[in-house]
Amino acid sequence: MALLLKAEELKGLISIEEAIGAVERGFRDQAHHPRFSLPRQRMTAGDRRINIHSGGSVDLGIAGTFIHYERHRFTKADQTYAAAGKRVYLAYDSESAALLAIIVGCIPLYDFDDNDIATETAITSAVGTKRLARDDCRVMGLYGTGRQARRHLKVMCTLRPIRKVKVFSRSAENRRAFCALMQPHVDAELVAAASPEEVARGSDLIVCATGSNVPVLHGEWLEPGQHMTSIVASNKEIVQEGLLDRPRRELDDEVLRRADVIVATLRQQAVYDEQGDFVEPVANGVIEWDEVVDLSAVLAGEASGRTDGNQITLFKQNSDQGVGFMALARLAHDKARAAGVGREI
Ligand SMILES: NC(=O)c1ccc[n+]([C@@H]2O[C@H](COP(=O)([O-])OP(=O)(O)OC[C@H]3O[C@@H](n4cnc5c(N)ncnc54)[C@H](OP(=O)(O)O)[C@@H]3O)[C@@H](O)[C@H]2O)c1
Repeated sequence: MALLLKAEELKGLISIEEAIGAVERGFRDQAHHPRFSLPRQRMTAGDRRINIHSGGSVDLGIAGTFIHYERHRFTKADQTYAAAGKRVYLAYDSESAALLAIIVGCIPLYDFDDNDIATETAITSAVGTKRLARDDCRVMGLYGTGRQARRHLKVMCTLRPIRKVKVFSRSAENRRAFCALMQPHVDAELVAAASPEEVARGSDLIVCATGSNVPVLHGEWLEPGQHMTSIVASNKEIVQEGLLDRPRRELDDEVLRRADVIVATLRQQAVYDEQGDFVEPVANGVIEWDEVVDLSAVLAGEASGRTDGNQITLFKQNSDQGVGFMALARLAHDKARAAGVGREI
């Protein structure tokens, strides 16, 4: 029998640490079974898009698809969501082939949010950051004051002993409101930064969690030992339709030039999506594709991550992947069964 779950029934059952552990295990297994995953697929018409994340983990005994539909708004400067439908997980038991679970909605991981959109993204960011950032990160620089910024703040403060976070987005009012809203949820002191440069300078951990279409982080501000995580991915279809003339960026070329270690959630996704933060530096001769390493390879010990405290490292969380969603579906299913929530179908 399969379990039909409303995601909100999982509220309070899954901790951030457990979610990170599950997703880490899923991505490690991806190194051994790379053909059990596909890069995220999109079907689009202007601002309409359906996103399909398919994958599986032999280790976790699960395979399937996570699907969601949304409308978005875009300008040359940024992109925001105009509407988003309920997310759906469809998960099979990869051993018995039985349908295991249908989960409607995003897995609730944060008590300060509606948990309706993309709760999983910051968890994958955490998996890469955990491997690459120094253990003694105490100062964090955060770009963005929206949904992803709130979640990344919480997750990064769970991962590392962060004492101070400098926050920047274009609106001073958004910076102030973010600090007021989020201060009760973390021990670190939240401070609104006056400029984007101030965020990067002196930070051990830099997180770009914006909806920007243009670089927010500039490589000239970087210092030895820093780690950066960035989440802006692709607007290939919008560019192909002639609605914008440039691919999205969150990092400038100098960031890529100065990074000693570059890890992506999935390099193939960057190629497939023609993601600006990779395609343009490659075209400009700043990096070569071979320098971009998959998260799964680092987790499986097939590629090195940070090897020295002075290195500058980058984790480009360049799209959530099916294997990560299925790792969470396994965790959600097991927790739901143990707690007796959901219904058999
Ligand atoms: N990699 C992945 O797997 C993944 C998954 C889901 C979503 N995403 C990406 O995450 C992005 C953000 O999503 P969200 O839900 O957090 O959106 P959101 O709630 O609309 O927040 C976007 C934030 O970006 C800030 N921002 C925009 N341009 C900026 C700039 N130039 N400098 C500094 N801050 C800037 C905005 O603040 P101001 O207006 O005050 O500047 C706002 O706080 C989406 O665009 C999406 O592409 C990635």
